[in-house]
Amino acid sequence: MTAGDRGVAVVTGASSGIGAATARRLAAEGFRLVVGARRMDRLAEVADPIRARALPLDVTDVESVGRFLAAVTEDGPIHILVNNAGGALGLDPFEMADLERWRWMYGANVLGAVWITQGLLGALEESGDGRVVLVGSIAGFQPYPGGSGYNAAKAAAKAAFEVLRMELLGRPLRVTQVDPGMVETEFSVVRFGGNTVRAGQVYEGVTPLTADDVADCIAWAVTRPSHVDIDQIVVRPRDQASATMVHRRS
Ligand SMILES: NC(=O)c1ccc[n+]([C@@H]2O[C@H](COP(=O)([O-])OP(=O)(O)OC[C@H]3O[C@@H](n4cnc5c(N)ncnc54)[C@H](OP(=O)(O)O)[C@@H]3O)[C@@H](O)[C@H]2O)c1
Repeated sequence: MTAGDRGVAVVTGASSGIGAATARRLAAEGFRLVVGARRMDRLAEVADPIRARALPLDVTDVESVGRFLAAVTEDGPIHILVNNAGGALGLDPFEMADLERWRWMYGANVLGAVWITQGLLGALEESGDGRVVLVGSIAGFQPYPGGSGYNAAKAAAKAAFEVLRMELLGRPLRVTQVDPGMVETEFSVVRFGGNTVRAGQVYEGVTPLTADDVADCIAWAVTRPSHVDIDQIVVRPRDQASATMVHRRS
């Protein structure tokens, strides 16, 4: 590391939304970024201006994750890992839930984050002050009708990373969960299979969080002194009191 260089930060799912904003923000804070996602054209748009290393990554694919981990760890210690890749598919009622969608949500939001973290813990520990961030969701502890598959996945990720914090006690590693409410990104477009009209209705009459608002929380958490562990940040728009209580202006 050189003066003014705060080390390496890895962000998964950095081609849009919260991941892209977090990569930009951490670069501005003085970290060297390594970013991963499936859409390489979109990833390059984020990576090039901040001189980040852009690597293809599908967190649900064994070979892709293997190649990503090998490339990331070849350059030595890692200071920050932001597990952000993920999302929701559909709003299916439990009774008619499509289990393939559940499988994807569990794979991306839970197993993907666990897998990447397992693979990078050694390099994070080597930094002497490794920080792991999980981008969870209020959906992980406030279930809502139609959300069962996504609620279950985010709840599972939350439990797994709480256990990780306990198991890492005594080692130079911290674990932070950042759980946002409504953030206007491509999240709802993906959830509704590309239907932008339906996605737009989610934010109608509401001032949602922006991806930068969440990046701000992540940047704050990972730049606290080494002895300070921020366990969890719950961040919602002022217009949202819970997963199901939203104030809409007509
Ligand atoms: N927006 C919200 O209201 C909200 C609220 C709470 C929590 N969250 C969580 O925040 C995180 C980021 O979502 P976002 O709101 O920023 O949505 P977004 O704009 O759709 O971004 C999702 C990112 O994840 C990446 N991704 C998805 N599947 C992936 C996979 N299999 N492998 C690698 N990358 C993958 C996408 O990139 P590619 O498609 O290029 O792979 C994209 O960069 C997610 O974990 C989401 O669950 C969002």
